[in-house]
Amino acid sequence: MAARILLSLLISFSFSVAFGGDPSPLQDFCVADLDSPVLENGFVCKDPKVVKAEDFYISGLNLRGNTSNSFGSYANRITVEQLPGLNTLGISVARADFAPLGINPPHYHPRASEILTVLEGTLLAGFVTSNPENRLITKVLNKGDAFVFPAGLVHFQKNIGPGYAYSISGLSSQNPGVVTIANAVFGSNPDISGHILAKAFQIDQKVINQIQEKF
Ligand SMILES: *[C@@H]1O[C@H](CO)[C@@H](O)[C@H](O)[C@H]1NC(C)=O
Repeated sequence: MAARILLSLLISFSFSVAFGGDPSPLQDFCVADLDSPVLENGFVCKDPKVVKAEDFYISGLNLRGNTSNSFGSYANRITVEQLPGLNTLGISVARADFAPLGINPPHYHPRASEILTVLEGTLLAGFVTSNPENRLITKVLNKGDAFVFPAGLVHFQKNIGPGYAYSISGLSSQNPGVVTIANAVFGSNPDISGHILAKAFQIDQKVINQIQEKF
């Protein structure tokens, strides 16, 4: 009896590990019907008979993004919303452009690991491990170099080269999600109470209010 309980615990544990990412597909494809009123985990499938090559196709990843903003970067994220053929397949792609000294601010993807390849320029890339170590792992990436950001970990990039830089990333979810740390903490709607953030960041509440005003 005890052995059977242990076995079932082990099985349920291994299943919860195996299904940490997007669920596995149960058919060749399930092109998202983005107009369906039915809500489910992902999107319902278009009738396979009316599926076209265009459902699996997107162009424009050769185009430079507009980096004229306070970060000096732009991310073109191609998720299931832009590319319905990604539905149920557990992958997506993104292009990031960086002006000189531009950054992609610290953020994480709640549902995906990421592998980023630099196609032009030089980036400093890094991620931070979870508590209690919070170890920062960084690498300078040149053209042709790739770097992995494990799912759910806070990560960032900075263009440290003299010129412009860009990268292409593969992500292990049709809808990785993005949580930008500064926006989530200081720009939530409504605000997280200044008392809470002052204690969390161990600084004066006036400083918290100043930061909140920027978001
Ligand atoms: C880039 O974005 C800035 C700021 O939003 C805007 O003023 C500018 O016109 C844009 N440039 C192009 C080429 O779209």
